[in-house]
Amino acid sequence: MSKAIPSNKPLQVIILAAGKGTRMYSSLPKVLHQLAGKALVQHVIDSAKQLKAEKISLVYGHEGELVKETLADPLLIWCEQQEQLGTGHAVLQAMKHIDDNADILILYGDVPLLSVQTLEKLIIAKGQQSIALLTACLDEPGGYGRIVRDRDKAVQKIVEEKDANDNIREIKEINSGVMVVNGDKLKHWLNKIGNNNAQGEYYLTDLIELAVTEGQTVNSYIVQDSKEIEGINNKKQLAELEREYQNRQASILMEQGVTLKDPARFDLRGTLKAGQDVVIDINVIIEGNCVIGNNVSIGANSIIKNAVIADNVIILENCIIEQSRIGNGCNIGPFARLRPETELDEQAKVGNFVEIKKSYIARGSKVNHLSYIGDTEMGENVNIGAGTITCNYDGAYKHLTKIGNNAFIGSNTALVAPIEVGSGATVGAGSTLSKYAEAEKLTFTRAAQKTINGWKRPEKNKS
Ligand code: UD1
Ligand code: MG
Repeated sequence: MSKAIPSNKPLQVIILAAGKGTRMYSSLPKVLHQLAGKALVQHVIDSAKQLKAEKISLVYGHEGELVKETLADPLLIWCEQQEQLGTGHAVLQAMKHIDDNADILILYGDVPLLSVQTLEKLIIAKGQQSIALLTACLDEPGGYGRIVRDRDKAVQKIVEEKDANDNIREIKEINSGVMVVNGDKLKHWLNKIGNNNAQGEYYLTDLIELAVTEGQTVNSYIVQDSKEIEGINNKKQLAELEREYQNRQASILMEQGVTLKDPARFDLRGTLKAGQDVVIDINVIIEGNCVIGNNVSIGANSIIKNAVIADNVIILENCIIEQSRIGNGCNIGPFARLRPETELDEQAKVGNFVEIKKSYIARGSKVNHLSYIGDTEMGENVNIGAGTITCNYDGAYKHLTKIGNNAFIGSNTALVAPIEVGSGATVGAGSTLSKYAEAEKLTFTRAAQKTINGWKRPEKNKS
C-alpha cells in the first residue's frame, strides 16, 4: 500500500438506503427504525455532517416519501432508485450530483455504529489513490463479499459470497461495503459494470477489479472493531446494536466520572453533559439534550428529557421530567412528573404524585403531595398542602394562578384560575377559591361543621 497523504479533495457522501428491509416485518421503512431514539439513517447522516461533507445524497426506494417527510432535511439530495437492481445501480442514481474532483464516500443507511474516526482513517488511507475500501476480519465471514489480495497483499477484487468458490469462502477479510472513490473514476467505472453474476445485480464491488485492471492501487483500512460495520436486517440485530451503542455511551460517561449503578440498564437517547459526582440508578432513560450539574442523583426508573438540572439536586425514583429547569438543591419525587416549561428555583421540593406544567416555582417552595400545578407563578417559601389543584382550564382557555411569597395553601384546595393568592395568605383546607385571597389573611370557603342530633343511618329491612 502506498504511503497515505491526505487528498485534500472536497468530500461528498452517498448513502444507500433503498433496500426494502423485508426482514423487519414492519410498515416502517427500515432506515427509519430507531436506535438510541434516532432513525438509523440519521446516525449515518450525522456522521457525514461531522465529516463536513459538502453534499449528502440519499438513495431511497419504496416508502421514500415517508423517509423524506420524517427526515425533512433541506441539506439532503434525494435520489430515487425505482427498482433495486444492486448496490452499483443504487450509486448510479446519485451520479448527476457528484463532482469529478471530489472524494466520494459511499455509506449504507442501515449501518449506524460506524464511527467518524474510522471514516476519517479510511479517507486518510485512500491518500492520493483513486479508491480505498473499509474492510474487516471476521471469524465467521459468511454472507459478506470477500477481499481477494495477491501475494504482496495488494487488493485484487471483491467476490460476493454467492459467486465465491470454496477457496474464496475461506477468506476471513470481508468488504464492509463502505468505500471512498474519486468522483471521476467512480463515474467511469460505474458505467462499465454489468450484472452477469449469481444475483443478476449491478455490484458496486465490481469497481475494484476494474480499478486493478486499469493499473490502479486499491488501498484499504481494516476496521478494528467489527461491530462498527454491522448492518441491521431484523429486530434482533436492531436490539443487539442498540445495546452495543448504549454500552459505548455508558462507558464514555463512566470514563468522564458519572456513576452508573448498572451500565447495562442505562439508556441515553440523545446527549448528556454531566458534572462531577452524578449518580444514576438503574433503568434511567435520558432523552434529547440534557445538562446535569455536580452532585446530582437520579433515582431508578426515572425519565429525563431535554432538562437542565443544576447542582445538588436529588431526584428520587420513578420521576418523569421533561423540558424543565431544576435549580440548585431541589428535591424531586418519588413519582413526580414535571411537564414542559416547568422551572424550579433553588431548594424547591416536589414530592410524590405531583404534576407540574408550565409553572415557575420560586426558591424554597414545597409541593409535597398529590397536587396539580399548571400555568402558575409561585413565590418563595410557599407551602402547598396535599391535594391542591390549580384549575387552570375552563374548557376553552388556560388561565394563570399567582401565589405570593410565604403563602400557605391548606390541603385539598381548588384554586380556580385566573386567581391570585396574596403573599403571606393562608387558605383553609378544603377551600374552592375563585377570587383574590388577601395577603397575610386567612381565607376559606368551607361550610361550618355541624352535628345533627338523633340522625340515624338507613338500615336494611330484615324481613
Ligand atoms: C453488500 C456488498 C458486500 C458487503 C456487504 C456488507 C455488494 C454487491 N455487496 O452486500 O460485498 O460485504 O454489502 O454489508 O455491494 N441497496 C440499495 N439499492 C439496491 C441494493 C442495495 O440502496 O439496489 C442498499 C441497501 O439498502 C443497503 C446497502 O445498499 O443499505 C447494501 O445492500 P445489501 O443488499 O444489504 O448488500 P449485500 O448483499 O449485503
Ligand atoms: Mg446486507
